[in-house]
Amino acid sequence: MNVSFRLNGKAVDLVDVSATTTLLDWLRIDAGLTGTKEGCNEGDCGACSVMITDDSGAKALNACILFLGQLDGKAIRTVEGIAAPDGTPHPVQSEMIKHHGSQCGFCTPGFVVSMATAHLNGATDHDTQLAGNLCRCTGYAPIVRAAKAAETAAIPDHMHDVPHLSAGKSGAVDHPTSLNNFANWYADNPDTTLIAGATDVGLWVTKQFRDLGKTAFLNRIPELSGISIDDTHIHIGAMTTLTDLEVAIEQFHPSFAALIRRYGSTQVRNAATIGGNIANGSPIGDGSPALIALDATLHLQHGTTKRDVPLADFFVEYGKQDRKSGELLTGVSIPKGADHLHCYKLSKRFDQDISAVCGCLWIEVEHDRVKAARLAFGGMAGTPKRATSAEAALVGHDWSESTIRQSMEALRQDFTPLTDMRASADYRMQTAQNMLLRVWHEKQWHLTSVHAVTS
Ligand SMILES: Cc1cc2nc3c(=O)[nH]c(=O)nc-3n(C[C@H](O)[C@H](O)[C@H](O)COP(=O)(O)OP(=O)(O)OC[C@H]3O[C@@H](n4cnc5c(N)ncnc54)[C@H](O)[C@@H]3O)c2cc1C
Ligand code: FES
Ligand code: FES
Repeated sequence: MNVSFRLNGKAVDLVDVSATTTLLDWLRIDAGLTGTKEGCNEGDCGACSVMITDDSGAKALNACILFLGQLDGKAIRTVEGIAAPDGTPHPVQSEMIKHHGSQCGFCTPGFVVSMATAHLNGATDHDTQLAGNLCRCTGYAPIVRAAKAAETAAIPDHMHDVPHLSAGKSGAVDHPTSLNNFANWYADNPDTTLIAGATDVGLWVTKQFRDLGKTAFLNRIPELSGISIDDTHIHIGAMTTLTDLEVAIEQFHPSFAALIRRYGSTQVRNAATIGGNIANGSPIGDGSPALIALDATLHLQHGTTKRDVPLADFFVEYGKQDRKSGELLTGVSIPKGADHLHCYKLSKRFDQDISAVCGCLWIEVEHDRVKAARLAFGGMAGTPKRATSAEAALVGHDWSESTIRQSMEALRQDFTPLTDMRASADYRMQTAQNMLLRVWHEKQWHLTSVHAVTS
């Protein structure tokens, strides 16, 4: 594959490279830029953070799970390109020195890149911006103080990157640019590995050392990107990143946006797509329970044939989805209307952790009766799944604590959860039941969030 990008301000054109070489390996081994560090090599620590700029702006991403094939036509800025070309430190670098933000220094390049990217974007929610950067010795207070101190400093000119467009390769099968052409080709070549954000597929290479064989990068197909809103529905393209979804969904379903905020880290959300999150069929993925509770419809395309399925029916059993060989996910739609959604993610850490249980509960109450309920859970079965018995115990009944407690009891008929390293079966069941009780309290305006403190 041929790949072109701008690296620290200079155009780079790579000819006939392996599309699944990670940017981290290429930077350190081929380009000799060893400032970008390898910590976990699986997207968890942020030591490898780089700034990537494309038409949608500048974002921090993890270079260890970013393939060269995803970078065509973009601009990359590594820690070596954060200071000005004349060597003047970037404001975040100066403040890191002043505030003693580094000890062993291993994490520092990743922090500096994340901080400089946030500075460029005017983002001052430093805890969120830096949740994907782990520091084992300095501690976060001096680093966050440095980020705050740099907030008002002028953005250095060299940080405004311009993507480097590749010449004459658009439409290639490994980098398609038309949905219909690609859908036809993929129907005939179903053994191809589709690559969206690579936050799952990247690990197949870095941790399982798999040869992906034939690959296709979906990031240049315009029909798969973006969110559109009409009178009745919100349409979300399969290639929409979790970052973009969080911003768009906030006004309609703030609880879903708050759930997305806890999905991986800033770097992971900047890469991960909703299509990849659904297609992987993970029983502990966070996107599907919320979308099922929102009554989402999934859109698929096989060659020229398009079809829609309720997302709840897409997950057949663990590892098996209602998806034909050679069929693409093109997007997902949710009905537009009043908000009755409550999302809860239970994990051992607040940030950057996979859910033990993810409960997304849509409960619509009218005239003190439950009019509709869609209760979807992740982490409770082999697939994301609705709790139909618990729903039946709610719908048509009085809206009361006693009804909620009956629904909690009925939940036992819906699931037989597993014990694993994240949680025991009993703990999963009890916490899932308690999520229902939490909705009851929240609907009475009782404060339930440990993060919301009032006097
Ligand atoms: C550090 C880290 C933290 C994470 N935290 C979370 C978390 O908190 N919650 C969570 O739910 N997940 C989490 N994940 C998992 C991962 O981010 C998600 O599953 C992600 O949404 C996958 O999307 P992607 O675009 O990266 O998919 P990819 O890795 O590119 O693809 C995933 C799978 O989907 C297929 N695929 C992709 N797009 C399509 C399409 N349009 N049609 C058909 N098949 C397709 C691919 O072929 C592949 O099989 C985390 C991952 C990492 C590395
Ligand atoms: S090396 Fe840890 S996130 Fe990349
Ligand atoms: S300074 Fe040592 S890990 Fe952060």
